Amino acid sequence: MLANLLLMAYIATEPNYDEAKVPGYTLPDLLTFADGQPVAQASDWPARRAEILELFETEVYGKTPEIQLPMEVEAFAEVLNAQDGTIVQQQVILRFGEASPEVNLLIYRSKAATQPVPAFLGLNFNGNHTVRADPGICITEAWMRNNADLGVSDNRASEQGRGGQADRWAIETILNRGYALATIYYGDIDPDFDDGFQNGVHPLFNDPNREKRAADAWGSIGTWAWGLSRALDYLETDSNIDASKIAVMGHSRLGKTSLWAGTQDPRFALVISNNSGCGGAALSRRRFGETVGRINRSFPHWFCHNFNRYNGKEDQLPIDQHQLIALIAPRPVYVASAVEDLWADPKGEFLAAKHADSVYRLLGTDGLPANQMPDLDQAVMGQIGYHVRSGGHNVTLYDWERYLDFADRHLR
Ligand code: GCU
Repeated sequence: MLANLLLMAYIATEPNYDEAKVPGYTLPDLLTFADGQPVAQASDWPARRAEILELFETEVYGKTPEIQLPMEVEAFAEVLNAQDGTIVQQQVILRFGEASPEVNLLIYRSKAATQPVPAFLGLNFNGNHTVRADPGICITEAWMRNNADLGVSDNRASEQGRGGQADRWAIETILNRGYALATIYYGDIDPDFDDGFQNGVHPLFNDPNREKRAADAWGSIGTWAWGLSRALDYLETDSNIDASKIAVMGHSRLGKTSLWAGTQDPRFALVISNNSGCGGAALSRRRFGETVGRINRSFPHWFCHNFNRYNGKEDQLPIDQHQLIALIAPRPVYVASAVEDLWADPKGEFLAAKHADSVYRLLGTDGLPANQMPDLDQAVMGQIGYHVRSGGHNVTLYDWERYLDFADRHLR
């Protein structure tokens, strides 16, 4: 009896990696209003977009509070001649009132730049000090998941981590190509564990008179996306940066976050999802690799409570992830997969990008100029870009070079 129950539980949670077992599905139509009327022309799109955005807010990521917190900016330890005098390393602390955690923003730009430059903005997983081996980069005091390789123990980062994630950030390449790079440790905004939304910036928003959180209250992905918009607020004040040309980029859970940030904040000129998978660029209805039920069980704090309604019931979702990508239209968006990263469903990521194409075309752009998934390491670039790279779940120089090519096309 127990063995049978365990076997059933095992079957229910074992991810599917077999294309033949992907269930048949019908995607919610992008170009039909909820009342059944067609979206016939570009001028119809804003109203349809608003309908879809509301569904993502109420059913998936939760609503971003409308409260505007005051933002205090403290610049410190600017190094004008890092790396043999060729790069500028700038650090800024953002605070949002008395009880705010410190949100550390690290910015690199080329010393040679003579005018404001476009920039990539992305959250990092392990602290700003892991992005480049430099003793001057402030080590966050925020909670961090333990990691022996990066010297994180008792949930605190340490000197040992310096430069430990440098290979994910291609700083020299980005700067040489004429862009700046800005990054924040995502845990500075909201530590990534389920604590009932008591830490990070949550207490600045929580309503003490409300006993229970609303079923559409934002989860951590929403909070991290909010942090990206605050970084953009700061970049708008930085005269070295062209804030009208900011590409928001993220990997994995932070790719889900960059898509949601880019969706909500139209100031982001370009949006990049790197291996974002379930709840990011991958179609939920395919149930390939990670599923809605699985992600909600493993990470109960990432999405809003309502998203749990669709555990094992993806076909009942009123939206699917191609619609999230379409909400970014007509701004350029890039979706990148890695062929061995089956957990994130590369094909589902491609299909979501492809199904967003109808809106990009309605708005007069060339969408994603590919009918099928391109060959390995063959990027396709229209107003939507896509590649599937060899290798596994990671951000590599290959990925960055494609993002730079795509940014050159659209931001230059
Ligand atoms: C887990 C999770 C994914 C997520 C990934 C990451 O694998 O299941 O949804 O994208 O972590 O952020 O690295």
